Amino acid sequence: MIRPRPRRPFPFLLLVLLVLVVGIALLYLPDYGSPDSTTPPADSLATDTPVTSALDSTAALPIDTATGLVVAEHYPLVKATCTACHGGQLVAQNRASREGWLQMIRWMQRTQGLWDLGPNEDAILDYLATHYAPQEGGRRAPLTDIEWYELNE
Ligand code: HEC
Repeated sequence: MIRPRPRRPFPFLLLVLLVLVVGIALLYLPDYGSPDSTTPPADSLATDTPVTSALDSTAALPIDTATGLVVAEHYPLVKATCTACHGGQLVAQNRASREGWLQMIRWMQRTQGLWDLGPNEDAILDYLATHYAPQEGGRRAPLTDIEWYELNE
C-alpha cells in the first residue's frame, strides 16, 4: 500500500525563520570588527563639553548645553544677564535684528523688571545680533507673474 509522503516537519520552517531573523539582526548590529566599537568616543563621556547642533545656523560654534546659547564673544556676560529670570532657550529660540533685540530689552525693562544694562548693553546687542539674527531664505519670494482671472458667478 502506498502511503502519502509525510509533510516536511514543522521545525524546518522554524529554522528558516531563525536564519532570517539572525541575518537581519546581524545587519543592524554595530560592527564588531572595528577596534573602537567598545569604547564610546572620548567627547561623549564628558558632561560639560559644549556640543554643536546641526539644526542651528551657527552650528560651527559650540552651544552651551546648560543654557542652549552659542558660546562666543560676550557669552559670559549674556549668560549672566539674560538667564537670570528665564532660561537661555527663550533667548536662543528668538531671532531679530539689533534693533529688534533692543526693543525686546526695552520691553523687558518697561514691563518685566529688567535693569538698566549700562555699558554692557552694546556688547550684549553685539552678541545677540550676530548669533541670533533673522534667518534668511525662510520664505519664497512673492509670485509676480500671475495672470489673475475673474470668477464667473
Ligand atoms: C528681570 C528679569 C529678566 C531678565 C534679566 C531678562 N529677561 Fe527676558 N524676559 C523676562 C520675562 C518675565 C519674559 C516673559 C517670559 C514669558 O513670557 O514667559 C521675558 C521674555 C524674553 C523673551 C521672549 C520675548 C517674546 O517675545 O516672546 C526674550 C527673547 C528675552 N526675554 C530675551 C532676554 C535677553 C536677551 C535678556 C538679556 C539682555 C533677558 N531676556 C533678560 C524677564 C527677564
